[in-house]
Amino acid sequence: MTDNITLTIDGQEIVAKSGTMILQAALDAGLYLPYLCYYPGMKPYGACRMCVVQIENGRGTPASCTTPISEGMVVHTDTSDLLKLRRDMMELLLSEHPHGCLTCHRVELCGPQDICLRHVSVNDRCVTCPKNERCELKDTVRYLEMDLNSPLTYNYRNHPRETRDPFWDRDMNLCIVCGRCVRACSEIRGDNALTFINRSGTVLIGTSQGTSILESGCEACGACIDVCPTGALVERKYKWEKAVETVETICPHCPVGCQVKLEVNKRNKIIRSIGSPNGLANKGQLCFKGKFGIDFVNSKSKIDKPLIRRNGVLQSVSWNEAFEFTSTRLKDFKEDKFAIIASPRGTNEDNYLAQKFGRVVMNTNNITISSDSKPEILSVLGEELGYSAATNSLWELQETNTILVVLGNPTEEQNVAAVPIKMAVNNGANLIVIDPRETELTRYTDNWLRIKPGTEYLIIGGIIRVIIDRNLADNDFIELHSLDIDYLKEVTKSFNLKTVSEKTGVPADKIRKAAELYAKGPSALLYGLDTVPSDKANSLIKAIINLVLVTGNLCKPSTGLYPLFDGANLQGSNDVGCNPSFLPGYLPIDKKENREVFEEIWGTAIPSEQGYRITELSEQILNGTIEACILIGDPNGYLGNQNGISKHVLQQLKFLVVQDSLSSEITQLADVVFPSANFAQKHGTYTNMERRIQLLTPVQQIQDDEQPDWWILSKLAFNMGIEGFLFNSSEEITKEIAMVNSIYTGIEVSKLKERGYQWPVLYPDHTGTPILYKNGFDKKQISFNIMELYEYGYNENTSYPFILTTGRVLHQPEKDMEIVRDNKINHIKRNEIVQIHPYDAGILDIVDGDWVSVDSFNESFKGIANLTSPHQGVISVTTLFGELLANLDESKANDPIQQLTKLPIKAVALKKIISIV
Ligand code: FES
Repeated sequence: MTDNITLTIDGQEIVAKSGTMILQAALDAGLYLPYLCYYPGMKPYGACRMCVVQIENGRGTPASCTTPISEGMVVHTDTSDLLKLRRDMMELLLSEHPHGCLTCHRVELCGPQDICLRHVSVNDRCVTCPKNERCELKDTVRYLEMDLNSPLTYNYRNHPRETRDPFWDRDMNLCIVCGRCVRACSEIRGDNALTFINRSGTVLIGTSQGTSILESGCEACGACIDVCPTGALVERKYKWEKAVETVETICPHCPVGCQVKLEVNKRNKIIRSIGSPNGLANKGQLCFKGKFGIDFVNSKSKIDKPLIRRNGVLQSVSWNEAFEFTSTRLKDFKEDKFAIIASPRGTNEDNYLAQKFGRVVMNTNNITISSDSKPEILSVLGEELGYSAATNSLWELQETNTILVVLGNPTEEQNVAAVPIKMAVNNGANLIVIDPRETELTRYTDNWLRIKPGTEYLIIGGIIRVIIDRNLADNDFIELHSLDIDYLKEVTKSFNLKTVSEKTGVPADKIRKAAELYAKGPSALLYGLDTVPSDKANSLIKAIINLVLVTGNLCKPSTGLYPLFDGANLQGSNDVGCNPSFLPGYLPIDKKENREVFEEIWGTAIPSEQGYRITELSEQILNGTIEACILIGDPNGYLGNQNGISKHVLQQLKFLVVQDSLSSEITQLADVVFPSANFAQKHGTYTNMERRIQLLTPVQQIQDDEQPDWWILSKLAFNMGIEGFLFNSSEEITKEIAMVNSIYTGIEVSKLKERGYQWPVLYPDHTGTPILYKNGFDKKQISFNIMELYEYGYNENTSYPFILTTGRVLHQPEKDMEIVRDNKINHIKRNEIVQIHPYDAGILDIVDGDWVSVDSFNESFKGIANLTSPHQGVISVTTLFGELLANLDESKANDPIQQLTKLPIKAVALKKIISIV
């Protein structure tokens, strides 16, 4: 049986894949049929009947969105009967839909809302709908060429508008009940936060619990808004604003690399962000950061001129003056006295020049990225397997049988990566989560291995041992790659199930089941290092690699390893050498032959010693080794005040240059501030967490003296008399990257305009490498790693003898909560539940329901005791995502997304404060 079917639509012969619905086949062939409830990527629904067709020798007028094509089928879409039917259906919809927008005589002149509002007599108040000229209903009515007269009558439903939840508004007077939002929320996002309500009589859309989205399990991804054909669901900020242009670029918030359509108004403000269906990494999806966190580009705190400090005060100067001043000062701080800290939001081109500037101009390898606090997350993969990157593509996760997530929280930190995971689980895949914290994914699985903090290495060892003992290893894979299984048997001897179960606190049968599921495959493994101390990261990742190798879950589709790191372009930054240990293309800096290649290209000697990484810089600044820095972007947004480079540390520098688009505490400390362009003003490329190199396209015009970071570094190098930095465009730098970096060789900007490609891209016609190691490993020897039984604890400080694990989930319907209206906005009000082990509670004379206080060195909170912690010495608290959302909405920070806190594990003290008895 052939996969392709030939049919005729409106006299045009088309070929489509078997199983395709008529509507989809028509759209794919470039034919238009009206539709309202259909949406690309969602299951056929057949509710609006706008897509009805006639099929020769068929009965009636079936909905084309739910009717599959068949060989030889002859379809008509535009007969007079069909037109009448559609108009009748539309009239029914309009009988309850405010539609002054269709009849207003100013419709062709539709302009600023203030004009219409002041001249009520000349219009039908179309501005009561914020979907002004973006409405699919309106477009469909126009397509149907319906004869509408003003004023039209309709039954206004008079539903109160919901405008108190964070970020978005709901107006059910404008809803046509196409169900797209409910289906997007359940089918694509797996959240079920929206549902049909009032089933008998008037069906409408509402939230699944109460009335506020805060209590519904909503993750604020905005998928419902993006699919809504009318103004029923809209983003609140700028809701009345009209776009003059829409441009597709890449989101700057996390390494998924979502393609976004950004709308800009005539005042150069970005007013909306919509997930692009063209995005290969996100397939039209976004998260709360990409959807509602782009407004920082409109901030009033923009830096518009170069500034230099004179007599203790920052003063505006010309670029020439700023370069002159900076060049002269920087010459005093060459080699080890200098460091450059680039931003994970920098493009590959920005950060390629940042490392070149460090190495060529300042003769140092002190080159780092502010979010790269645990470089092992990528580097160990390079050392062990060959490439420092994820092995497979994100959407392969949707087809995987089993997904194992180790210490990662992708639903918050790499959100869209969790979409295929949730889809796979909803289709029957197994999900195993190893984490002491409760996260959204732990609520999505029966296989949560809730380990005692610090025992993740042990449980991986235990799983490997079960796999070996129960003959679940992939012997063919092991033989093919000459892996020494006897060695692995030897080094995992001590990880017997009983010991591992006792130490991790996870029942043996759960560990056994996880081993069986993962070994069966195809299985994918995602890992984070959020809660792992730096000195333990190496061993943990090596253990994870052992697990992947012994089960053969590598080198093929729907398997592989996915590191969960931070920073939109951390991957690309490392690829282009913005790293203290590697030259572009991951060539170790300490190898003479590597340096010689770049010395030849760059025409200067390159220092051989590895530089300091971000987490080492504070100490080097405080001990006086590093005296000057160029800092691109604000590192504290990425590292937090405890691990980052604090204000106090930066104050010790003799010379600080900051390149940023917004003023901040850090720019106030600087000796020189260069106004840099933000991501939405840049040309260039980002590389995402699946190695996909994607193109950024400017959306917002550059204003005042803003310039891309590469331009600033290039001019500065020129002013310092150094050659090799005269680039006229970001594209010229892309060419140099392709020339010096073997995994980017086939990359060209013109090629990236079509789509993103996953490296290695080896030659100009190469289509990239979605799966690494498919043809085996380039490395001469892949081997299992040593494993020794060890665990580590967090509570070394005896003043804080407990370990607190912090969780966050979308929904806890089993726990009481209340929605309160504060400052006109909804907030969640509920008491924290503190899970305590019964043994610890006994010692402290705490019973279920007592009020307790939890205190760490920098914060404290109160909550109600609940004696359900599975681990002695460990207490746990799980907060709701809705609380975070409300705080984000009210934040006054320039870029609130950068202030988000992760889910820490920390040492705390516990005491009873109020007894219930
Ligand atoms: Fe086919 Fe709605 S689009 S019934």
